[in-house]
Amino acid sequence: MKAIILTTPGTTDNFSYRNIELPHIKDQEVLIEVKSISINPIDIKTRKGQGAFLYANLDPAKEYILGWDISGVVTQSHSPAFKPGDEVFGMVNFPGIGATYAEYVAAPANQLAKKPANISHAEAAGATLAALTAWQNIVNKGTVKPGDRILIHAAAGGVGHYAVQIAKHFGAYVIGTSSAANKDFVLSLGADEHIDYKTRQLVENVDPVDLVIDGLGYQSALDSLDLIKPGGMLISISAPITPETREKAAKFSIAAEFTSVRPNGTDMNSLAEVLHSGAIRSYISKTFAFIGMAEAHHAIESGRTIGKIVVNL
Ligand SMILES: NC(=O)c1ccc[n+]([C@@H]2O[C@H](COP(=O)([O-])OP(=O)(O)OC[C@H]3O[C@@H](n4cnc5c(N)ncnc54)[C@H](OP(=O)(O)O)[C@@H]3O)[C@@H](O)[C@H]2O)c1
Repeated sequence: MKAIILTTPGTTDNFSYRNIELPHIKDQEVLIEVKSISINPIDIKTRKGQGAFLYANLDPAKEYILGWDISGVVTQSHSPAFKPGDEVFGMVNFPGIGATYAEYVAAPANQLAKKPANISHAEAAGATLAALTAWQNIVNKGTVKPGDRILIHAAAGGVGHYAVQIAKHFGAYVIGTSSAANKDFVLSLGADEHIDYKTRQLVENVDPVDLVIDGLGYQSALDSLDLIKPGGMLISISAPITPETREKAAKFSIAAEFTSVRPNGTDMNSLAEVLHSGAIRSYISKTFAFIGMAEAHHAIESGRTIGKIVVNL
């Protein structure tokens, strides 16, 4: 099979397309013929030697296949959950080695769900790491309920565009931030209010909220505390909580936490349900061919993409 090997951490010049052996599946794993792969900021950080190199203690002297997010078709199964021919999607082995930049991937069955028949492989691949992050923080950690007021930073991005839709699905009042160029997109996802972070001061324009999902980090997390009700919650997904933010949060009785997404078949099945019903959808703003993996990385690296970027095989 063809795979993209990262020969050494650095630029996309270090991607090498090679023919390698098919992966062997272990007990409770399936082999998936990959149809679509989605790309996230963590792919870029890892390619540069940060991200999973740090989380999973990878050896920079070794070669790795990057990637976690896929949708595809099961070709072999060592699990009763799936049989050959099943269409599945999921985030594989995060934050370890998912090895999804390849034509075939070995994946634990309990990290997958069946792809809804009414969405494409590209839409399904998009709704993995980013959608799981939104689900785990808004539903599991944030315990969203009708009437909750939720502020979502970077609402036009991968995580943000799912977070807005998931929060609305559970009856929350949603405020999303983005540049003016993406205002209509954020409102089209169901956000009740839009804030252009470049021109409008958040504190002056937002009434107190119960939960902030912060995909920007550091100063944004610190400043967001001024917007949260006592007893509310700040969830930072892009950077650890600094001592200054922790101290200020404690003073205002706000829970402040950094979270990291984890594979979870139950959450994947929940996502499959809301994708199937149409309650949430993946917005894929750009697709690339497998040979265009470097361009897909450059797009995400810009920090300006809308919704998800997907590579189709
Ligand atoms: N901890 C975890 O488990 C976890 C999981 C997933 C992602 N993350 C992290 O969360 C962050 C977001 O991930 P993502 O996949 O959503 O990224 P993404 O898709 O690359 O985000 C791109 C979006 O960010 C928006 N943006 C950039 N600067 C902004 C600002 N100052 N205010 C508001 N929006 C801004 C852009 O909108 P405009 O062009 O309109 O500015 C763009 O639409 C990344 O740092 C990622 O590493 C963490």
